[in-house]
Amino acid sequence: MRPGRGRATNGRRGAGRGRSRSGTPGFAGRSAIVTGGGSGIGAALARALVAAGAHVVVTDIDPVAARRVAEEITPGATVTGTARSEALDVTDARAVSDLVGEVVAEHGGLDLMFANAGITWGGDTEQLTLGQWDAIVDVNIRGVVHCVHAAYPEMIRRGTGSLVLTASMGGLCPAGLITSYAMTKHAVVGLGLSLRAEAAGHGVGVTVVCPAAVDTAILDKGELDGFDGRHYYLEGQGVREPLDPDLLAESVLRGVLGNRALVIEPARARATWRLQRLSPALMDTMLTRYVRATRRRRDEGPAGA
Ligand SMILES: NC(=O)c1ccc[n+]([C@@H]2O[C@H](COP(=O)([O-])OP(=O)(O)OC[C@H]3O[C@@H](n4cnc5c(N)ncnc54)[C@H](O)[C@@H]3O)[C@@H](O)[C@H]2O)c1
Repeated sequence: MRPGRGRATNGRRGAGRGRSRSGTPGFAGRSAIVTGGGSGIGAALARALVAAGAHVVVTDIDPVAARRVAEEITPGATVTGTARSEALDVTDARAVSDLVGEVVAEHGGLDLMFANAGITWGGDTEQLTLGQWDAIVDVNIRGVVHCVHAAYPEMIRRGTGSLVLTASMGGLCPAGLITSYAMTKHAVVGLGLSLRAEAAGHGVGVTVVCPAAVDTAILDKGELDGFDGRHYYLEGQGVREPLDPDLLAESVLRGVLGNRALVIEPARARATWRLQRLSPALMDTMLTRYVRATRRRRDEGPAGA
């Protein structure tokens, strides 16, 4: 799929406009790999792609979860997309490369690579073990690199395709108490936005996805020392409800079709990003206060919550 000449700006159309019945047009017949597709945002991306007619390989380190998602995607009468599942650990460069080769052999090429798998750790950074540092770098950075390394040359060969990298608002703005996560997501943003300039000359699009809190299992993972991730993400972003992953997926597919540099959802996150660029010092002060308040609440326990 040759990406359009879309604006290199953040996604302006909100994901909250409702779900289209027919899915996003423009993906019919395209081949796609989604990593971390067994849950949350990856599963929603896979559903949206199949609804739009794409042939999707839903992959995850958890093969049961990936299979369940692929089996649950049951195309309607007017939908020609397909889904199948594969176990894939994105930290295994050879396995990622082998899967890309498989899809190319099957479909004649790989049109879309969604490097989406990710993990998080929450809490005070001094408590992270080196093993935890290694794990988050391996999955969130090296995992994305493996996807780009395997898929990008193949897309260059055909002069078409899109790389879609799931980063986070934590890749655009600092985020204390999820510091290791924010570090890895800044790396993904740097990779995606820099690669765009090179990839454009080859007819390959690159889109970086930067959502605020999305209603997925990750909000309840990565806890350290009583740190309540879900509470942190929501209150830190001043929102009561996390985003619906299916609505985010629709926004992402629109962004990919327009070859947008960044898809940032929801609108509030775009405002936060603007504030970060306008006044990093103000954001630093706000974040420092927020970290202090979060630690105090944690240390006081449920009674003080
Ligand atoms: N949910 C949010 O609030 C939010 C916000 C911003 C960005 N993100 C990012 O979105 C992406 C998807 O996360 P999610 O919210 O859907 O979380 P999730 O936990 O629901 O899904 C993540 C999936 O990745 C898989 N995974 C973990 N390690 C893997 C590995 N080594 N190889 C392959 N798969 C692996 C997990 O098994 C899981 O199915 C992540 O990169 C995450 O950082 C999430």
